Amino acid sequence: MRLLVSNGTVVTAAGPVRADIACADGRVAALVEPAAPTQADEVLDASGCLVFPGFIDPHVHSRDPGATDKEDFGHSTMGALAGGITTVLEMPNAIPPVTDAAMFRERARHHERSAWVDFGLWGLSLGRSNIDELEGLFAEGAVAVKLFWGYALDRDTKQLIYNTAGHPPERLLAPPETGDVWDVCREVARVGGLLGAHCEDRHVLDAAQRATGAVETYAELMASRPDTAEAAAIALATELSRSTGCRFHVVHMSSARGAELVRSAQAAGVALTAETCPHYLLLTDASFDLLGPLMKVYPPVRAEADRQALWAAVLDDTISSLGSDHAPHTVADRQGPLGAQPAGMIGVETLVPLLLDEVTHGRLPVTRLTQILAERTARLYGLYPRKGALLPGSDADMTVVDPDASWTIDNEALHAKQPLSPWHGWRVRGMPVASVLRGRVVMRDREPVGERRGRLVRARHQAPATGPETATTR
Ligand code: DOR
Ligand code: ZN
Repeated sequence: MRLLVSNGTVVTAAGPVRADIACADGRVAALVEPAAPTQADEVLDASGCLVFPGFIDPHVHSRDPGATDKEDFGHSTMGALAGGITTVLEMPNAIPPVTDAAMFRERARHHERSAWVDFGLWGLSLGRSNIDELEGLFAEGAVAVKLFWGYALDRDTKQLIYNTAGHPPERLLAPPETGDVWDVCREVARVGGLLGAHCEDRHVLDAAQRATGAVETYAELMASRPDTAEAAAIALATELSRSTGCRFHVVHMSSARGAELVRSAQAAGVALTAETCPHYLLLTDASFDLLGPLMKVYPPVRAEADRQALWAAVLDDTISSLGSDHAPHTVADRQGPLGAQPAGMIGVETLVPLLLDEVTHGRLPVTRLTQILAERTARLYGLYPRKGALLPGSDADMTVVDPDASWTIDNEALHAKQPLSPWHGWRVRGMPVASVLRGRVVMRDREPVGERRGRLVRARHQAPATGPETATTR
């Protein structure tokens, strides 16, 4: 099967080029001169469009199996597909969570039955209790292991406890102590993996929550989760990473202080990287008046100065990856006092459109979009250059964008099982109009084309990133 993507502007990590992309057997065969004679079974005309390496959302919670009243993998990956994502990296905190190699294999089989896009899997670190399983998880191809630092988990289900006050104390499993996290870092470094952590220090959170009391307003929510909690966790992560050599990734960074600390750690040569999300780049505490509890997320959306500092960090490469932190809840979850509600919002389908809007308005260079949603993310998670690039031999995954299409994000048109988006009603310019997954057109005009064909992609962290064989699709 040979596909030719013709007449588009290909946005590589080095910049835009006019080229056609010839694909064969699911891989990129070559970038050729526009309109050069090329044999193809199918042609996708990308005239007037930008062609990106298929975008990756590295931070998706599909709740499957487990809380499938909130979301499931079919819905989240359908949303990903419609929104211009061709690979999602699925978080491990479903029920049961992915804590060892056997569960990794089972989860991969489970998701292959419903995946509309390709997917990688995160493993879960429970501190010392599954430290001996981490090597096996990375051997299976885990993209990273996740540490929910700062969260208590339910002892049985290992689900996040959003508000400890409402949970039976005997069922709370505290996050690992610093020494245990140090051990985890040493082990992740030994096996050449990647540790990704929710960085909020639990002792700072405890003190802040004691001082704040019941949370009813957004100001109280922010006071109960101050930037000091994020900064303290990142400062500790810096030292643990420095002393062990562990590659440590700060997920969903939310504050100016966090960005400053990551920047100085990187300048000192520490293997610390960071992600942020659209809600931290586009919303502030003032947005609560309009959005209400729909924008409750941990860590919280903060002040305008934080928003601006995060943009600066995206532009200067302190932040090298963006994810949606797609974390759905139900309408019923959004009732009652703010303090008692769970945290998290949907986002996998709107990640690309929101960032395209920043590109078309001149606030984000188009090449930077390829870097942060494809190339840099793929490298970080051990998927490059199989994913994240359009080099000969790369998977032929592409996101085709009409940069001039203006449209309005609408809950009714979103594919999530619980379409409660804080972005409902946002007008954006730039639309993903087609996607290619391993050489097949799988999306047009935000709807799927053909059967679901998403597959597991395994990370290969230890292999040097020199050839397409560094990551494999089963
Ligand atoms: O707000 C959040 N919700 N933050 C997280 O870290 C997890 C997420 C969830 O899974 O609900
Ligand atoms: Zn998350």
